[in-house]
Amino acid sequence: MKLVVGISGASGAPYARRLLDFLASHAGSHGVEVDVVFSSTGRQVWKQEIGSEPRYPFRIWKNQDFTAPFASGSALYDGMVVIPCSSGVLSRIATGISVDLISRAGDVMLKERRKLLLVLRETPVSLVHARAMTQVIEAGALVMPASPSFYSGPASIDALVDTVVARVLDRLGLPNDLMKRWDGISPRTPEPVEDAT
Ligand SMILES: Cc1cc2nc3c(=O)[nH]c(=O)nc-3n(C[C@H](O)[C@H](O)[C@H](O)COP(=O)(O)O)c2cc1C
Repeated sequence: MKLVVGISGASGAPYARRLLDFLASHAGSHGVEVDVVFSSTGRQVWKQEIGSEPRYPFRIWKNQDFTAPFASGSALYDGMVVIPCSSGVLSRIATGISVDLISRAGDVMLKERRKLLLVLRETPVSLVHARAMTQVIEAGALVMPASPSFYSGPASIDALVDTVVARVLDRLGLPNDLMKRWDGISPRTPEPVEDAT
């Protein structure tokens, strides 16, 4: 699998870090090739929220470098995740405004009918955002809002972050055990079967 990870300037760099950490340790065994592109604000927010510079064994592209292979459909990439996804990137992809590499790669994923996951982080959501979401969903993207879940009982911020990243990996088809999965209420008390007659 050839995968692009786009990191834009929404809050949520810990989601991106966790995904990249997972891919750095599992990409080889899962046969995944990873390319990364930061928007300039994506880098700034990463610095603000993580502190250190991102260091990963992947090709890291500048957001204005359209020579990246995944700027063209002919390079046959399988999918892209934008994590976190700013409302700006969402809107640019929704309207086909490919002024930077992240938006262009998203555009390519849609036109080539490849997987495009947008881990949107914005609140509240305006009508502009809602319409952009509808537009990209209709065009084939998955909008996966950065909405952590609590039912698995995450005991730390990292565990909470994992509840989002696990769902992203699931959609990419990458086996992971980042979060405890819902298996019904335990211990389960069987409901009495009602007699329909
Ligand atoms: C600390 C910080 C947090 C931000 N959080 C968000 C956010 O959660 N969602 C969002 O859409 N934009 C957020 N922004 C604004 C975007 O960074 C800004 O709209 C920028 O133009 C996005 O650029 P990009 O889409 O090229 O990454 C934030 C900016 C900063 C500096």
